Amino acid sequence: MVSAVRARPQDPAVVALTDLELPRAWPDYVFRRVGASFRFLRTLLLGGRSVELPPELEGREELPEYLLREFHRMPNGYYSQTLANGYERGFERAMLGKVAAVRTWMARQLRECHAVLDIGCGSGKVAGAVAAAGVPDVWGIDASLYQLKIAARAMPTLQLVQGLAERTPFSDGRFDGVTACFLFHELPTEAQDAVLGEMRRVLRPGGRVVIAEPSVEQMHNRSFISLWRRHGWRGIYFRLLALMVTEPYLEQWHGRDIPAWAAAHGFVVEMDESDLPFRRIVLRRL
Ligand SMILES: C[S@@+](CC[C@H](N)C(=O)[O-])C[C@H]1O[C@@H](n2cnc3c(N)ncnc32)[C@H](O)[C@@H]1O
Repeated sequence: MVSAVRARPQDPAVVALTDLELPRAWPDYVFRRVGASFRFLRTLLLGGRSVELPPELEGREELPEYLLREFHRMPNGYYSQTLANGYERGFERAMLGKVAAVRTWMARQLRECHAVLDIGCGSGKVAGAVAAAGVPDVWGIDASLYQLKIAARAMPTLQLVQGLAERTPFSDGRFDGVTACFLFHELPTEAQDAVLGEMRRVLRPGGRVVIAEPSVEQMHNRSFISLWRRHGWRGIYFRLLALMVTEPYLEQWHGRDIPAWAAAHGFVVEMDESDLPFRRIVLRRL
């Protein structure tokens, strides 16, 4: 994995990403190479296959197989410069601009904390919101250097590291808050367990995990008519969005019994509320 400036004893190296030259992945050649353009269209229209990592990409051998599925109909997933930039904007738009509010809510839950880790931080928006809420020591970790580079450019003061959610490089009890925004539904069951276990390890007793994920209602519990009555056209929109976007592990996440899952990993559920388009969960470490 990439390393650069050491922040302080025991902490991992903060990655100096702003000027890091990342290798191009195949979507970075769209409109320049016929093969790449054809493959791009194919993924958008028919769904994806496997992510292809450039051979020079640092840390590539540590990425688990499930991360290398091309879901969301997103050409090469989180692994290209072109799509990392596009994803960041596309996610906000596809969610009708509602993600900003949920990130602010997440940050508000942890504003009394001293040290917070945003896991699967992507372009760093949650970490940025937590820092803006006044938390002095904020870290972000993500598997994709392409995503992290966007975060670093937008918020140069964030402390960012490349790594896996299930095996972070932080010491036991390092944080009093952890966030995960739209991470768990992208993980298979075993990885969900490993990540919650890792959250417990890096949290001090009494620390909190704040989670935002797609709502259950988006896919289950309601017919189209009931969604229309309750949410108008937005209800129909979010159901269609969920049906269109390939999410191989969504059902494994929706099938979770959250109180039992939390208890099995040494947490208690403080809040679990679901409404379109988000489910918001707060856990406290025992
Ligand atoms: C849907 S994006 C959400 C990004 C960000 N949390 C946000 O609010 O925009 C999921 C992010 O999780 C990262 N990710 C997925 N599985 C991961 C894992 N096992 N370890 C580290 N990062 C992971 C992806 O690279 C991606 O950046």
